[in-house]
Amino acid sequence: ELGQYRHYMQKEIFEQPQALANTLEMIGTAQRLSPHLFGSAAPELLDGVTRVLILACGTSYHAGLVARYWIESLAELPCTVEVASEYRYRESVPDPDTLVVAISQSGETADTLAALKHARHLGMNRTLAICNVAESALIREAALKFLTRAGPEIGVASTKAFTTQLAALALLALTLASQQDWITGEEEARHLAALRHLPVAVQKVLELEPGIAVWARRFADKQHALFLGRGHHYPIALEGALKLKEISYIHAEAYPAGELKHGPLALVDKEMPVVAVAPNDALLEKLKSNLQEVKSRGGELYVFADQDSAVSEEPGLHIMRLPEHYGLLSPVLHVIPLQLLAYHAALVKGTDVDKPRNLAKSVTVE
Ligand code: F6R
Repeated sequence: ELGQYRHYMQKEIFEQPQALANTLEMIGTAQRLSPHLFGSAAPELLDGVTRVLILACGTSYHAGLVARYWIESLAELPCTVEVASEYRYRESVPDPDTLVVAISQSGETADTLAALKHARHLGMNRTLAICNVAESALIREAALKFLTRAGPEIGVASTKAFTTQLAALALLALTLASQQDWITGEEEARHLAALRHLPVAVQKVLELEPGIAVWARRFADKQHALFLGRGHHYPIALEGALKLKEISYIHAEAYPAGELKHGPLALVDKEMPVVAVAPNDALLEKLKSNLQEVKSRGGELYVFADQDSAVSEEPGLHIMRLPEHYGLLSPVLHVIPLQLLAYHAALVKGTDVDKPRNLAKSVTVE
């Protein structure tokens, strides 16, 4: 069943173009999105939404963090993202006009399910589940649903579920934007074209695997690693750090690059590899000065840039370029090399990639 692959995780990383194509299939060639994508009650339940609250755990939470940037910038709706296990136990202020979005690969994560029930109990009935399993408890609990079509994900470390969640969340952001007339038909069509091109763009990024495997060898004997990103790539840094720690057992932390000098810079020395997500966006110049801070402390830098990023190799600063600059959807592409980096670091270390110690695929207990 593994075919040419050594592990399910590797297979699932390489299935991402197909998983994205399947998830996006339902939009066909449409130039405008219909709210019906999210269920028959969507026109009514999405109408009049004034805020969005996203609830999830782990990797699914990171997908929510990316979506916050999209929802606020495209739909101009305030968006909060909260770890489900925190939300369910704290006192919060309910608001019936908030769209509550629960994201889960399995749809059985106890905390995410309980958080959604908690929101409903507080009187929030505009609920949407984004989930990869049609018959799951989460799907039954929510008024609206969107099924990602990643196919079964067997590796404990989530990969294709994450990128398909991002595709679903991009569709949600566009639907909300379109409904409120925040974007023109032309802009919407342009974003949809970019979404449709994603499988091809991801395929090209996957071709970077051999170079990433070489980088991974330099990580495997390290105790710690730092991941930096800015803007909608900060959650991608978080996801890269999570992947590395869960399968290679290397301690990794992610910071928004601007936070570096507020503490973590103290940790940087030549034993601390620093990974930076550095696409060519408005934040690149700022990120570059953060990279200099790392370099001047002897830290070894591994930068994932794209074709247009104005950064260049120098001693201690290694660059890998993604073939395309992808604007709003760039986080979908930039997570791929971080998944591959974690996978190859784990291979070198010889850990049980598909079943990392102490972890379960579906966390059905709190
Ligand atoms: C990390 C990972 C976990 C899950 C989390 C939520 O690679 O897989 O962090 O993302 O346990 O699981 P779901 O999405 O099934 O609710």
